[in-house]
Amino acid sequence: MSHLRLVAPAPEHRDGFLALVAEARAAGEDAYLWDYHDDYLRYLRETSALSRGEDLAPGMVPCDVLFLVDRDDRGAPRAGPLPVLGFARVRHRLNERLEEYGGHIGYYVTKSVRGRGLGTAILRLALARTAELGLASVLVTCDADNLGSVRVLEKNGAVRESEGRSPKDGAKLLRWSVRIGPPAMST
Ligand SMILES: CC(C)(COP(=O)(O)OP(=O)(O)OC[C@H]1O[C@@H](n2cnc3c(N)ncnc32)[C@H](O)[C@@H]1OP(=O)(O)O)[C@@H](O)C(=O)NCCC(=O)NCCS
Repeated sequence: MSHLRLVAPAPEHRDGFLALVAEARAAGEDAYLWDYHDDYLRYLRETSALSRGEDLAPGMVPCDVLFLVDRDDRGAPRAGPLPVLGFARVRHRLNERLEEYGGHIGYYVTKSVRGRGLGTAILRLALARTAELGLASVLVTCDADNLGSVRVLEKNGAVRESEGRSPKDGAKLLRWSVRIGPPAMST
């Protein structure tokens, strides 16, 4: 049985993440990896500090960078590195810029594994993380022509709130909200 999870980047994910990076670059999607500078140990340090809100650069807010992995709970030994299927960014709060563009959550699924429900799953898991953070309502923005992302948002119960323009290229932007329930009680 497969178990999709969002986990904090760790040394064991290095090879899986580097494979994701190589695939993203080959697909011309490097822009989603703006915070990775070809040094995985540095990336671990920086993402860990960011999640704790330490050493924040101007304009940055505390943010969890989380990897999507599929963990087999039978504990079977794995051949090869654990694939990193995608990643999410879960920002703990908004600032003026994120209110306009970016919102609380960003997500990315590796190109070769798209169209299998992973986009829907990664947003569901990221929303669960926002519940742990105590957020009551979450903002997500996406380009209007990003039909995959629009569908992922609809399938997660997001409601279209407003439209705007991307500050990057002026493209039409959609703003969505998702109401967050309290985190499930563990027994
Ligand atoms: C957007 C993204 C996360 C979707 O991931 P995915 O794994 O393909 O998503 P799913 O498999 O869960 O698909 C969800 C729905 O979207 C539809 N869909 C996916 N890609 C689509 C596309 N390019 N055009 C139209 N519909 C699409 C699927 O058919 C599915 O709908 P259905 O259940 O009604 O059949 C992925 O394409 C991606 O990472 N893109 C680059 C990063 C990005 O755009 N992030 C979002 C920024 S707001």
